Amino acid sequence: MSKLIIKNASELVTCKGTAPKHGKDMSHIGLIKNGCLVIENDDIIDVGSDQILKNYNEAEYQIIDAANKAVLPGFIDSHTHLIFGGYRADEFSWRLKGDSYMSIMERGGGITSTVRATRNTSLEEFISLGLKRLDKILDMGVTTVEGKSGYGLDYETEIRQLQAMKELNEMHPVDIVPTFLGPHSLLPEYKGKEDEFIELMIDVLLKVTEENLAEFADIFCEKKVFTIEQSRKFLTAAKKAGLKLKIHADEMYQLGGTELAVELGCTSADHLLQASDEGIRQLSQSNTVATLLPGTAFCLKEEYARARYMIDSGCAVSLATDFNPGSCFTNSIPLIIALAALHMNMTIEEIITALTINAAAALGRSDRVGSIEKGKKADIIILEYPSIYFLPYHAAVNIVETVIKNGKIVRGLK
Ligand code: NIG
Ligand code: FE
Repeated sequence: MSKLIIKNASELVTCKGTAPKHGKDMSHIGLIKNGCLVIENDDIIDVGSDQILKNYNEAEYQIIDAANKAVLPGFIDSHTHLIFGGYRADEFSWRLKGDSYMSIMERGGGITSTVRATRNTSLEEFISLGLKRLDKILDMGVTTVEGKSGYGLDYETEIRQLQAMKELNEMHPVDIVPTFLGPHSLLPEYKGKEDEFIELMIDVLLKVTEENLAEFADIFCEKKVFTIEQSRKFLTAAKKAGLKLKIHADEMYQLGGTELAVELGCTSADHLLQASDEGIRQLSQSNTVATLLPGTAFCLKEEYARARYMIDSGCAVSLATDFNPGSCFTNSIPLIIALAALHMNMTIEEIITALTINAAAALGRSDRVGSIEKGKKADIIILEYPSIYFLPYHAAVNIVETVIKNGKIVRGLK
C-alpha cells in the first residue's frame, strides 16, 4: 500500500463539493492555512489542519513538507481537441493580417484542412503526438483532460481518434475523458446534404457507443455549420444512446445553442461568446456548466465571454483551453488563468473553482475528482509559491512544481 502525507501547506485549497458551484459559491474554495492531507493508495483519506496528524503514525508514511507552498486539486482541462494531424500555422499568419476564422473556413481551410491531415495520420502517430501533448499538460498540473474526436468526419478516422485516446488513457498518468464530436464541420461534398451528414454521424455514434469509445457527444452548433434543429436531433440521439452531452454553442453568432443546452440537459455548454441574456438566465437555473474558453477569444481577437455577468447571474462557470490546431493552438493553463483574471474580471478564487470542481462537473466526474476531500482521487498539485495569488500574478508562467496523480508523485519531487 502506498501512503503519503502532505503537511505544512501554507495554503491548502480544498474546493470541497460534488456538484458544480454556482455564482457566489464559486468564491468558496475552502482554504485551510497550514493544511495537511493524508493519502492511501489512489485516494484522499483525510484533510484538515496539521492537528489531524496526531491520528496517524507519520513513520508509516512518505512525507512531503509543503512549507511555504500552496496545495490545490489537480487542474482539469474540460475542453480540448487533443488528437489531430497537421498544423495550421499558415492560417494563423493570415489571421494576423486580418483574415477571419469564418472566411478561411468558407474557403475550404480551417477544420477541413485539419480533416485532410488527420485522415492521413495513423493510430501510432496519434499516440506519439498524444504522449507529447499529455506530458506538457501534466507539467502544468492538469490531471484530467477531455479530448474530442471531430477531425475525421468519417467512420474510420473518428474511431481512430477515439481509439488513440483509449490507448493513451492506459499509457499516461493523465486521465482522458473522450468525446465524440462527429458533427464538427461540414465537408464541401455534403453542402446541401446537412441532414444526410447528421444521419451518418448518428450511425457512427451508435458504433462508438457499442464499442464504449466515448463518454460524451458534442456538436458545433453554428451559423453555416449545424443548425439548432440538426443539433437537437444529433444530441437527442446521443442521449438516447447513453452518452452525456456537450455543445459548442453561440460562439460566433447567437443561434440559441445556450438555450438548447439547457433544454437537453447538456452537462456543459461551451464557448458562449454570444450567449443571450435569456440563455444565461436559463443556464443559471440549470445544472449545465458554462465552459468558457478565453484562449480561443484571445487567439481569434474576439471579445471574451461575459464571465462576470454569468457568475453574477448565478451560473456555474468552468474554464478550459480548447486546445486545437486552428482557433486556439495553445494548451497553456497559465495563459488561461491570466486571461480570466485580467480580461474577464474573474477573481482568483473563481478561477480556481472553474479549473477544478466546476471543470470536474463539466466532465460528469465531480463525485471523483476536482477537490481535495475524503473519498476523492488523490490528484493534487503543489505550487512553487506560498499563495494562490501567485497564479495570475506570475502571469502566463507555469508555477506548478509537484504533481500527484492517483496518489503517485508524477512530476517534481521523487
Ligand atoms: O472549439 N469551434 C469549433 N471547433 C473548434 C475549432 C476547431 C478548429 O479550428 O480546428 C473550437 O474552437
Ligand atoms: Fe472546441
